[in-house]
Amino acid sequence: MKTVGLVGWRGMVGSVLLQRMREEGDLGLIDAVFFSTSNAGARAPAELGGGRLEDAYDINALKKLDIIITAQGGDYTSEVFASLRRAGWQGYWIDAASTLRMERDAIIILDPVNRDVIERALGAGIRNYIGGNCTVSCMLMGVGGLFRHDLIEWMTCTTYQAASGGGAQHMRELLTQFGTLHESVAGLLADPHSAILEIDRAVLDAQQGLPTAATRQFGVPLAGNLIPWIADDLGNGMSKEEWKGGVETNKILARGAGFGAAAIPIDSTCVRVGAMRCHSQALTIKLKSAVPESELEEIIAGSTPWTRLVPNTREDSMRWLTPAAVTGTMDIPVGRVRKLAMGPEYLGAFTVGDQLLWGAAEPLRRMMRILIEG
Ligand code: HSE
Repeated sequence: MKTVGLVGWRGMVGSVLLQRMREEGDLGLIDAVFFSTSNAGARAPAELGGGRLEDAYDINALKKLDIIITAQGGDYTSEVFASLRRAGWQGYWIDAASTLRMERDAIIILDPVNRDVIERALGAGIRNYIGGNCTVSCMLMGVGGLFRHDLIEWMTCTTYQAASGGGAQHMRELLTQFGTLHESVAGLLADPHSAILEIDRAVLDAQQGLPTAATRQFGVPLAGNLIPWIADDLGNGMSKEEWKGGVETNKILARGAGFGAAAIPIDSTCVRVGAMRCHSQALTIKLKSAVPESELEEIIAGSTPWTRLVPNTREDSMRWLTPAAVTGTMDIPVGRVRKLAMGPEYLGAFTVGDQLLWGAAEPLRRMMRILIEG
């Protein structure tokens, strides 16, 4: 049995990871060691075996492991990874953080889409396997088939990203803001004859008057609002989230510099919206040729076993293609598939994915299964 160290299992991504590992019976296949960055020596919860928590900064303890899975975050990776490798550790590092993603000796894992890339890397002795950006992973789980068939000349994504992408505190902040806004007009709402413009004015006053503590995570209100910028400003008009969309998609597909296949231009406008944990995105795709829509639908539907083609009707879109319908499921619905007014080589689509499942936790546990099943 392989010895697998788990770090960051109490956090939001880590909790979803453990939940999935339990559902899939992963824990019975490994000798799991639970680490803590803050509470070493304490007992792990009984349902996790009740053993002592090891110190996540103890290089000697980490060195004994065959595999480390971390959802602890980029600061932990920065602090521990290099020292551990310098100390001679030859095990497999599986990480949710972005820190190592673009390193030459790291693979971005999304095995339903790039199992071939992963297998080649394993054969070449690569030992660092990093989960992709959530938006990218959810998009590729939706339309990976179009890439596999090499049908895409370029693509733009307009994203509608959930609060959870920022972290647990961001989800709490969003809900607290919703509550504050509701409270500000509860009396008016209770009166069916009150004027809607008065309600609207009061909500705007409440949004604009939110104290600093109520916008600490997002910086501005998100409830009843949206924020058309996610992550760092790269200084060239692009956000880091938008940059990742292009570079990570190509790296997952083994395209671009160093891979021997031209990169596919992919650009995005990434927007934070008031959804809880599903990232949605509207895609505009320039096809390499005018493939018939029915053929494209078949290819999209076959992208992965979790991809669900949603008929392009009002009823189906409203029923199946929303964060509320998808949250907590492994399904990746793709709908609104249609040729666009620009011509027969232009395709529109819309996809939704739970950013904590396929966007974060699931590729990690699946990579572990690939390693232990050989
Ligand atoms: N960067 C993403 C977001 C989350 O802020 O929504 C993780 O990839």
